[in-house]
Amino acid sequence: MRVLVTGGAGYIGSHTVKALHKAGFEVAVFDNFSTGHRELVIDRNVIEGDLMSKHEVRSAFSEFPCEAVMHFASLIRVGESFRDPQRYYTANLISSLNLLDGMLEAGIDTFIFSSSAAVYGDPEAVPILETHPLRPANPYGQTKSFVESILQDYARAYGLRFISLRYFNAAGADPEGELGELHEPETHLIPNILRSLLEKDRTLEIFGTDFPTPDGTAVRDYIHVSDLADAHALALQKLLEGLESGFINLGANHGYSVREVIHKAEEVTGKTVEYREGPRRRGDVPVLLASKARAEKWLGWRPRHSDLETMIRTAWEWHRSRHARG
Ligand code: UFG
Repeated sequence: MRVLVTGGAGYIGSHTVKALHKAGFEVAVFDNFSTGHRELVIDRNVIEGDLMSKHEVRSAFSEFPCEAVMHFASLIRVGESFRDPQRYYTANLISSLNLLDGMLEAGIDTFIFSSSAAVYGDPEAVPILETHPLRPANPYGQTKSFVESILQDYARAYGLRFISLRYFNAAGADPEGELGELHEPETHLIPNILRSLLEKDRTLEIFGTDFPTPDGTAVRDYIHVSDLADAHALALQKLLEGLESGFINLGANHGYSVREVIHKAEEVTGKTVEYREGPRRRGDVPVLLASKARAEKWLGWRPRHSDLETMIRTAWEWHRSRHARG
């Protein structure tokens, strides 16, 4: 069984390629390396191409005929999506449409989509069920929600079969040390904490200490990237076995505040984290917490690495060894 993975040189994409290998799939990575990294590509099959070009998408499918597609490639920074929504709508929507056109043309009907908890916006109640209304609080989340609507329409009209996986906060690194999180600039909490311990002149800022949460900082549902990766392989297997198209949350159903994450990082690393307290970041909601009941029921998925200690430890090992290599 052959799978084309767009964005396979990115953080979640690269870990998923590894999980797909372990599950016995043959993979090709399709990436334009604008934010992806060659050091994260473990597959021999790499097609360097851009989803904004219909021609390059078409050639990818003729170079690598396949039965399924996983679509990770996307712009993902919430703050940037407020500053430049045109770029976000254009990139995230046109690339997805071109990819789906290419699939329809090539007769490929099986699709796994990287969606986000950002489709929900500020939740009415937690844990968030997949049936919760979609009210994205930023243009990035809106692009994910639009693609989800397109998928539903294409499923009805053209028989597309899809699972859209709504990630909560991906964290941690490959427990075997081969892969990890690499964003430039980095905006995510755990790598920012760890990099503040490794890189001179890098200080951590807590974005908001006045949220309506027990310690005033925002609460998120962190999920280990290798658990996310396993869920992709499972979703694909189930879809191929006849699972209906639909939407599935991927979170651990456990929330940690920014301060709790900092304390755990101090415990794991044995170092003191210096930080300053700043204002809220635009578009950040107080609490995100997933219901994982559907993921368990539909996929038989059980997170194995998603306790906070393991997520921070695996991330710390990756960042430390990269830093040591220079
Ligand atoms: N935070 C800080 N300091 C930092 C970085 C983050 O205080 O240096 C805080 C944020 O304000 C937030 C929490 O830590 O409260 C987590 O922030 P991340 O940037 O790590 O993650 P987000 O929750 O903002 O975003 C993630 C994904 C998005 C997705 C969103 C909702 O990166 O793609 O979850 O699903 F949209």
